[in-house]
Amino acid sequence: MATLFDTRQFVNECRDAAAASDAVTATRAVVRDAVRALASGVVALPPLDSMYARRSGGLMLGHDRTLFEDDATTVAIVETEPGHLQPPHDHSMCAVIGVFEGGERNRFYRRVGGRARLATRRVVRPAEVIALRERTVHAISAEAGESCRALHVYLGPLGSRPRSLFHPESGIEEPFDFDTYLYYVRAA
Ligand SMILES: [Fe+2]
Repeated sequence: MATLFDTRQFVNECRDAAAASDAVTATRAVVRDAVRALASGVVALPPLDSMYARRSGGLMLGHDRTLFEDDATTVAIVETEPGHLQPPHDHSMCAVIGVFEGGERNRFYRRVGGRARLATRRVVRPAEVIALRERTVHAISAEAGESCRALHVYLGPLGSRPRSLFHPESGIEEPFDFDTYLYYVRAA
């Protein structure tokens, strides 16, 4: 039987990693170990309240839960439901994403004259980890027909750092706003 994933220990490990001299490499290692354990079924997530579901009201994109946030790091569990393409955005800080269930489809965009233009795509599978640079622009969705669950760790205060959102059709950059983010969700 699987033991429960220790969210407090994971947060502590992420905080230590964020303080390391090479914070991205250290955070990648912490997230990699966690998603390998979760993907293998050795450990299982405990039931968690959903912050994202509350904020998104009737629009059910998934269930996100921020486990921790301070000036150095933000730790979140991101659940993405199929059928929704979330809009392009950046984070204004490095990010590490590790998937432990389903496939997280990442679209990566190039910045061209104040707009985002689709450049590449990658599906991140269970036990895989990717790192995003401060100015990386991406948009995520779940693979068709399956929910996706992932650990997202950001090297800064995601909720308070000014960052950008991009219109889903025109690609025009604007300041990030969560209500606008939801308005820009499109069918995947
Ligand atoms: Fe993101």
